[in-house]
Amino acid sequence: MCNRVDHSKAAYATVAILIIIVACVLQPQYLITSEIDVKAFGAIGDGITDDSSALKKAWDVACGSTGQFKIPTGSFLVGPMKFSGPCKAKTVVVNVVGNVKAQPRTAFPKNTDTWISFEYIENLVVNGPGSFNGQGDTNWWPFCDRTKNCEANPTSLGFHSCKGLKLIGVTSINSPGSHLAINACNGATIKNININAPKKSPNTDGIDISSSVGLNIYGGNIATGDDCIAINGGCSNINITNLSCGPGHGISVGSLGRNGAKEAVSNVRVAGINFIGAKNGVRIKTVPGGSGSARQITFSNIRMKGVTNPIILSQFYCPHVDPKDCKDIAPAVQVSGISFIDIKGTSSSSDAINIDCSAIRGSCAGITLEQINLQPVKSSIKVVATCQNAKVQVIGPVFPPVVCTTASSIMMPLDHDYDERKQAIAAT
Ligand SMILES: *[C@@H]1O[C@H](CO)[C@@H](O)[C@H](O)[C@H]1NC(C)=O
Ligand SMILES: *[C@@H]1O[C@H](CO)[C@@H](O)[C@H](O)[C@H]1NC(C)=O
Repeated sequence: MCNRVDHSKAAYATVAILIIIVACVLQPQYLITSEIDVKAFGAIGDGITDDSSALKKAWDVACGSTGQFKIPTGSFLVGPMKFSGPCKAKTVVVNVVGNVKAQPRTAFPKNTDTWISFEYIENLVVNGPGSFNGQGDTNWWPFCDRTKNCEANPTSLGFHSCKGLKLIGVTSINSPGSHLAINACNGATIKNININAPKKSPNTDGIDISSSVGLNIYGGNIATGDDCIAINGGCSNINITNLSCGPGHGISVGSLGRNGAKEAVSNVRVAGINFIGAKNGVRIKTVPGGSGSARQITFSNIRMKGVTNPIILSQFYCPHVDPKDCKDIAPAVQVSGISFIDIKGTSSSSDAINIDCSAIRGSCAGITLEQINLQPVKSSIKVVATCQNAKVQVIGPVFPPVVCTTASSIMMPLDHDYDERKQAIAAT
């Protein structure tokens, strides 16, 4: 802009150059869009003062003008809040340098579903290296019991109805419930995410994805008490690569079909993942009596280190029901085009591979296991594969060897289908 001058008319050009020079000199102060710093709106950042209203004011200004929002160094204590769009700027950038800390549980209205939610914002970019601490450890988890309260703990960061979201180098610590929820988003990139909560923290899923299309999640570490990543109904074209997961309950598609729901997930590629000390590795779970489908799902180039149940495909996921009451009732969510390729490492239990399909005709088809080598983590364990009601295509060496049987002729290791309730009990 500054050096594109029309030289055809000398006099005009001279004036034009002068105007442009003046504009260029003034630009940094007056013309370039400036970043809205929450401190300029009264946020203190001492970790004690409630900065909610300062952040809200700063957001309203940023959203209505420059679209540049900054949380500087410091510890900003905030209660539940919503950053809502649509915003004026084409791209909205939130730079999180400091830490954002959740107010105590008592400051949360009953049934708050999300601590901080971003909604209806197009092209939102949230940059780290700052962190969000949900204070689940002191404020929420001790209040979980075997009833359902525990499941309703708020998600730390919710992204709803977004388009072109980018989340880069952000850290989430000790969320009350799930760390991140991505819902109704179209096109999102999550890069170098860092998620941290203890192994025993209840229902602290890392990333929950629902009703979203075109997600690319790559790089980072997820260590938490529940699923590292859960891909729920209404999702397609999801790529997850180059991540480490553990502790945690693995990367899972589903559960699909809860309470008779019709749900579909398709085109999921999970590749280049290290599972370290996780409870599950890669998993697909559907609930009897639900409908819909799980199609074209590939897990490849996966390394397992001391994982309890490295590979699970279960059409008998019955949360809140005793495993022996989890029956093969129609209809079933249709599972097809599922590949497990190049999965190697160690299992800490004997159930290295568990393919547990419904006997309902056509509900489980096109399962491939290729180049699998899962050894026991110690010699006193003998690893096995269990498989029922499936025709599995085995390519290349697969260990432990997979032999499929018809319904109920073997006892399926169903206890992992029970983890929500077990977790709630463990937390008491
Ligand atoms: C996921 O990977 C596939 C294959 O590499 C690619 O075609 C697709 O566009 C990717 N999707 C996203 C959302 O990045
Ligand atoms: C994989 O992710 C890590 C961060 O967890 C990053 O340092 C590394 O560069 C990534 N590798 C590739 C090939 O993207």
